[in-house]
Amino acid sequence: MSSSLWFQGQVQAALRQAGGPLLLVRGEGSRVWDDRGRAYLDARSGVWAVTVGYGRPDVAAAVHDQLRRLSFAPLTDAASPVAVDLAARLAAVLPGDLTMVALVPTGSEAVDTALKFARLYHYAGGRRRRRIVISREYATHGSTYAGASLSDPDRGLLRGIGAPISGIRFVPAPYRYRCRFCADGPACTLACAGAVEEAIAREGPDRVAAVIAEPVPGPGGVLVPPDEYWPRLRAICDRDGILLVADEVITGFGRTGRWFASDHWQAVPDLMILGKGMTGGYQTLGAVAMRRHIAERLDRRLIPHGFTYSGHPAACAAALACLRIVDEEGLTVRAATEGARLREGLRRALAACPIVGEIRGLGLMVAVELVEDRGTRTPLRLKARDLDRVAQDLRDRGVLAFVDNPVILAPPLVITERETDDLVEAAAAAVLALGARLPAAR
Ligand SMILES: Cc1ncc(COP(=O)(O)O)c(C=O)c1O
Repeated sequence: MSSSLWFQGQVQAALRQAGGPLLLVRGEGSRVWDDRGRAYLDARSGVWAVTVGYGRPDVAAAVHDQLRRLSFAPLTDAASPVAVDLAARLAAVLPGDLTMVALVPTGSEAVDTALKFARLYHYAGGRRRRRIVISREYATHGSTYAGASLSDPDRGLLRGIGAPISGIRFVPAPYRYRCRFCADGPACTLACAGAVEEAIAREGPDRVAAVIAEPVPGPGGVLVPPDEYWPRLRAICDRDGILLVADEVITGFGRTGRWFASDHWQAVPDLMILGKGMTGGYQTLGAVAMRRHIAERLDRRLIPHGFTYSGHPAACAAALACLRIVDEEGLTVRAATEGARLREGLRRALAACPIVGEIRGLGLMVAVELVEDRGTRTPLRLKARDLDRVAQDLRDRGVLAFVDNPVILAPPLVITERETDDLVEAAAAAVLALGARLPAAR
């Protein structure tokens, strides 16, 4: 197919597939259909965004009604009632005293905004030396320059582009299966949290503005931290007056089985970054939620900051509709139960598969980590053509997934028991088929 559309997956999807890129034309519930009428269970939720499912007339109607009433209201010197309502609704579901909400168009712009706010907060408080931001290995914080700079350099988001923005430092993330500190030990030692403390001590506590982290890094491999990790980060930041920033772009709005992943550990961050699932994929919207005293201090040092499409009324209407559905349909609970069903099903189906090292997750974020050898945990390094073959095999079995190592499954929160079982069957079959294709030594 010849087209003028440039898109990220082009190289992988279009060039390698004889039939050209997948053209998705319709969606309903957890499924999407391509232009040839084939259905797929979308275990990518678009890109981690689809929560309440595709094709919901109630969300479409909310957007439609809003567009007919008022199609634009700039968040400069005016606001729309939906933006005001959304901020109030968010404040009601956000943990602790995260009661002030800045709306932006996307998750990446929310990351940029949070970074600027964190530095500005200290500047406005007279602590102008506080510029350093501590991020973590395996992090993904988006594609803008700040988001890419805060992401693990190994993810290649700045490859060929140049230096990251200044003042970013990286520390290890909790990754129990491959922890450099305690993977071989009987229990987690929380040395990864200690690494944050050490980095702060190294830089000088009075030079550190913030620590930013995804509660459960998704694209980085669905790395679920030990229960003590977030409370410990909270305590470390509190001790030195450092802001704790949780990037819940992926984990927010029910995906992990709670409204926000931070709710699992009762560690309220100072700033929370939101996006994706807030509108269930129906519109583009991001947000930075903050504690009131932070917003009040920023008010003293206002800088020009905003985006034309910040808090677009149609996006706010979609978000309000989705929040209502997540609430009314109990989708946080559904994410928890179906996530557990998915993990248990995969564990049963793949118990004897020698290339499966670990199956882990929280709610509907599930990773199947592949190894050469279960004993040594040597990662299975797959060539691009192996990965394409797995992706194609999954498609042939009616599933779209994030195919890499680990293979990641993150279906919409409306997935039914029956669909979860179908997903287990297809994903396990594709992994078993991969194992069978690899040389016997593996
Ligand atoms: C944790 C996290 N933060 C931020 C972003 C950026 O969000 P967006 O793609 O909406 O700009 C992503 C994107 O995948 C993400 O995973």
